[in-house]
Amino acid sequence: MEVKVKPKIFVHSWLSEDLSSRLEKYFEVDHHDTMKSILSGTELLNRVMNVDGILVQSSLIDKPLIQSCANLKIVSNVGVGFDNIDAKFCTKMGVQVTNTPGILNDAVADMSMALLLAVARRVPEGDQIVRSGGFKANFYHLLWGADLKGENLGIIGMGSIGQDVAKRALPFGLNIKYHNRNRLNNNIETSLNAEWMSLESLLKSCRFIIILCPLTNETKHLITINEFQKMKRDSFLINIARGPIVKERDLIIALENKLISGCALDVYEFEPNYDIKLAKMNNVVLAPHAGSASVKARKGMVELAAKNIEKFFLEKNVLNPVNIIN
Ligand code: DGY
Repeated sequence: MEVKVKPKIFVHSWLSEDLSSRLEKYFEVDHHDTMKSILSGTELLNRVMNVDGILVQSSLIDKPLIQSCANLKIVSNVGVGFDNIDAKFCTKMGVQVTNTPGILNDAVADMSMALLLAVARRVPEGDQIVRSGGFKANFYHLLWGADLKGENLGIIGMGSIGQDVAKRALPFGLNIKYHNRNRLNNNIETSLNAEWMSLESLLKSCRFIIILCPLTNETKHLITINEFQKMKRDSFLINIARGPIVKERDLIIALENKLISGCALDVYEFEPNYDIKLAKMNNVVLAPHAGSASVKARKGMVELAAKNIEKFFLEKNVLNPVNIIN
């Protein structure tokens, strides 16, 4: 179906040539390629003031920005997490918000296992030894790590990605424990051999803990010094969800005081900033918010975000609504 007056959209993301031409067929497109640079809040605001739709990749879409865009009708987020967008205010203003669930599950679940294995078996430390010329002999005392088989893996946030992590963890011999607002139905629990636990029991009984829940008012600072004190001294924390779920200052205190054995982080409380102390600790593995950074997932996410914008203007419908507007 053709639209007569082309709606104006601003794209703050990478776009393939094909996708770019497709969007130009239907829209007046202003595009900033995030492969080159990320716009500041003010730069973004200047580009979006007169648009009907925004396709955005993790930039902050807050109340002042939404208020400044008189024509805004849709914000299509390239990402499953949408804590960067004030969705509640969008609803109030009649602005549709969409995200890209599902398409990145495999990539994030793979990366969760990669981080777990990296911190358990000290992969970055070994890499550093070899690169710095320290590999002189096959010393048997080097890099003794943690075994996975028979240990408890605690998954905080057992949505579809959490379940995909559990599926990958089972063949390693890990016992799946989880904490989620809602318990999974019996069939899923049985197929994953997964046991629901209170957060406290999970913290006390799991050797590996992966955070996979969304960032909300309830999950901000879910893990503080109180929680670290409950954790096993030989445990490892992996955060691949959102930084502010873990209070970074308390994480550093926990590591310095050996309340836990190590951690692997893909996300940071004050992203892209992080406390330099983390980078100086051998038992900390760091990644640059790359959980969904596989070719298939990242291309698929942009494609899906574009489809949401197209459907909205061409068919008055979307594939992945985050909010309901009248
Ligand atoms: C997501 O989709 O939420 C990932 O963190 C990418 O930003």
